[in-house]
Amino acid sequence: MTERVVCATEDLPPGSRVVVSVDRIEIGVFNIGGELVAIRNRCPHAGAPMCDGLLTGTVVSDGPQQRRWAHDGEILRCPWHGWEFKLPEGRSLVDPPYLLSTYEVRVLDGQVLVDTASGRGTRTRAEART
Ligand code: FES
Repeated sequence: MTERVVCATEDLPPGSRVVVSVDRIEIGVFNIGGELVAIRNRCPHAGAPMCDGLLTGTVVSDGPQQRRWAHDGEILRCPWHGWEFKLPEGRSLVDPPYLLSTYEVRVLDGQVLVDTASGRGTRTRAEART
């Protein structure tokens, strides 16, 4: 069995996060507007603790001289170098080949469960260059 209880659903309201250590891997579960997203607490750029990052939005451009705020509450900004990753997919906005490692997460009987064997999507600096 690779699913682990992370917390009760009531402890993870929209906009919040919970970080746990499971089998010596730190995993953060975020509630993004009601959707749960689990990521490894490691930035693929240089290893920063991603779950310490600001959950925010970002500025996008629709054309010359056109900027607007978008993805409010869906962007996780790395605490070390500020790279932004869009949740739930975990793709870097700075350099799209970089991905956060994500895990399957679900709710059962009021508990948030993460499948620790389902980690996928990690693209490290070296992997992104290949
Ligand atoms: S360690 Fe995250 S952007 Fe550099």
